[in-house]
Amino acid sequence: MKLPNLNEARKRSNSEVDYIYLNQNYNENTFKGQKYFLRTYGCQMNVHDGEEIAARLESLGLIVTDTIEEADVVILNTCAIRENAHDKLYGFLGRCKHEKEKNNPNLIIGICGCMAQEEGVVNDLIKKHPYVDIVFGTHNIHELQDLLIKRNGKQNIEVYSCEGNVYENVSYKRDSNIKAWVNIQYGCDKFCTYCIVPYTRGKQRSRKSKEIIKEVECLVKNGYKEVTLLGQNVNAYGKELDNELSFAELLKKVSETGIERIRFVTSHPWDFTDDMINTISECSNIMPYIHLPLQSGSSRILKLMGRRYTKEEYLELYNKIRNTIPNCSITTDIIVGFPNESDEDFNETLEVAEYCKYDSAFTFIYSPREGTPAAKMDDKIDMETKEKRLHRLNEVINKYSLEANKKYLNKIVPVLIEGISEKDPNKVFGYTDTMKLVNVSNAQDKIGKIINVEITDAKSFSLDGKAI
Ligand code: SAH
Ligand code: SF4
Ligand code: F3S
Repeated sequence: MKLPNLNEARKRSNSEVDYIYLNQNYNENTFKGQKYFLRTYGCQMNVHDGEEIAARLESLGLIVTDTIEEADVVILNTCAIRENAHDKLYGFLGRCKHEKEKNNPNLIIGICGCMAQEEGVVNDLIKKHPYVDIVFGTHNIHELQDLLIKRNGKQNIEVYSCEGNVYENVSYKRDSNIKAWVNIQYGCDKFCTYCIVPYTRGKQRSRKSKEIIKEVECLVKNGYKEVTLLGQNVNAYGKELDNELSFAELLKKVSETGIERIRFVTSHPWDFTDDMINTISECSNIMPYIHLPLQSGSSRILKLMGRRYTKEEYLELYNKIRNTIPNCSITTDIIVGFPNESDEDFNETLEVAEYCKYDSAFTFIYSPREGTPAAKMDDKIDMETKEKRLHRLNEVINKYSLEANKKYLNKIVPVLIEGISEKDPNKVFGYTDTMKLVNVSNAQDKIGKIINVEITDAKSFSLDGKAI
């Protein structure tokens, strides 16, 4: 039994990161014929962790099911970024508890992901949810098989709040055979004052570039068309290592593998270099699409958030990107209602949104996270005001999303076709190089290919087109 500890999670020492090359083999008969149900919430990193969890479950002989009722093992891979994540966990637990009590007393229930790293959550699972069998965190996904095999009828909680290591030789059951996530860096050292991630994911640790390149080369060999390089601050890649490539150099190396499309998330404006911008503009397989979180347009709030840039510095970077990569699409994240955000502060956010005319944006109401500095700030702004601000901001964001999409009307653009459209089985869907979702008619046989599409209609969140 190992419980998460907030003070441990907060620590950052100079201790070296261990690069651990896993060599794990499991007997596929252990759970043969049994089924697992896996639900993942949260960011791309968690989604990719979900692909690791699936591979680990299948290494024991489990096969996937999409209903809890059919499952022998259910795993909930949680996200802790905002309070509503908690509601999702407890809703899910209610369903699992019911299933275990009424229909399947042998059901194994597992909780993992970022919420499993939270002290309060785990204490609650111990006290109020004894029917949960296993809890493991973001640092020890590789122990999942052992946790399942060595169950002894007691609740087993194994959550480490260590700063974190880097594991290699990890297998994934990838959701797609066209595009793939590739971790380049784990954890985060930025400690933005509102954010839980540095506590749930440990310190920033970069993978060795030769391992990243090896993985991408292998994906190319297996016919993958697109990789998305993952990290909380991809542009700080390699900074904590001696003799490692910078992010711009890594991008160039990944570009040389010949993979058709390269994307990356998330860029922190603070570490964004001219080299990066030039590399993106020079390499045709690095997609002209940058997610550049703003968070707030007020330098006063940005300072309180610990974001390390001012509104002016953000705008300077924005302009540099626009001028060097003219067709680049730029998206963002914005938080409204940070403690004591004034009308003036909020208006500055609106002004930046008006100026940047983002292709799209994720917008959130600030949600206090236990243990973070911002959660201790006293806040005089009521929820109604925050909701009104979110609504107002979304109006501006949606206006420009539609405007940006309308620029595509009647144009012919390359689209990587990924699969059958959910809304219309006669259409397929895919993304432009600039990350616009397009529903395409006339291209049923083009899944996995990059084709030219003429855009026939533009909405706020997607485009329609026909293959030509
Ligand atoms: N590493 C990325 C962000 C990861 S979290 C970056 O630095 O940009 C994704 C988004 O969730 C953040 O960009 C932020 O807008 C939002 N977010 C994070 N913590 C939040 C909180 N406490 N309340 C509301 N939104 C939050
Ligand atoms: Fe959170 Fe800031 Fe790190 Fe992004 S950079 S994960 S917002 S602490
Ligand atoms: Fe959520 Fe953890 Fe990602 S808190 S956003 S799943 S890093």
